[in-house]
Amino acid sequence: MEALHSDVKEVLLSEEDIHQIVSRMGEQITRDYAGKNPLVVAVLRGAVVFTADLMRAIDCPMSVDFMAVSSYGEAAKSSGVVRIVKDLDTKIEGRDVLIVEDILDSGLTLSYLIDLLKGRGPASVEVAAFLVKDVTGKTPAIEPRYVGTHVPDEFIVGYGLDFAERYRNLPYIGILKPEVYQK
Ligand code: XMP
Ligand code: MG
Repeated sequence: MEALHSDVKEVLLSEEDIHQIVSRMGEQITRDYAGKNPLVVAVLRGAVVFTADLMRAIDCPMSVDFMAVSSYGEAAKSSGVVRIVKDLDTKIEGRDVLIVEDILDSGLTLSYLIDLLKGRGPASVEVAAFLVKDVTGKTPAIEPRYVGTHVPDEFIVGYGLDFAERYRNLPYIGILKPEVYQK
């Protein structure tokens, strides 16, 4: 049988940890968007699992749409130049847009997306990032309004996050063993 759990060096967030973080973020968002009807924009594919949970923790009218982007160049590093693979189906003019991302590293992907969406005349654009990677000596290009938690500068998988499209189905957040991606 192919390895899955045994490729994980360390579990950083258990299912219970994740549940608590998502509930707290949902409460914050519910409070901030009271009386509004935000459009939650999930960035495919990594944010899908987080978005599915976060939506159900948001207790006000909202809708959801999806965008898929891919960054040019090296797959593991963000170049800040982003290609839209799938655009929104929703018109966002006058809408309160909440972009949902799985993990923020350099912040270049999100920075590009924010500028792009702002150009369409929304009422507001905010970001909810489940994870922020702490990279020594580097400050991310953007500061999300909502942050789940911080993780170390390692390869993070699970709860939607992948390596080579695998591990997205792990119900927890873990650190991938270096020997898996150095192979
Ligand atoms: P930037 O640098 O633009 O990168 O903030 C954000 C995107 O890079 C991906 N990313 C990761 N994906 N494990 C992953 O599965 C990681 O440790 C990791 N670090 C960055 C992610 O797709 C995010 O959208
Ligand atoms: Mg991703």
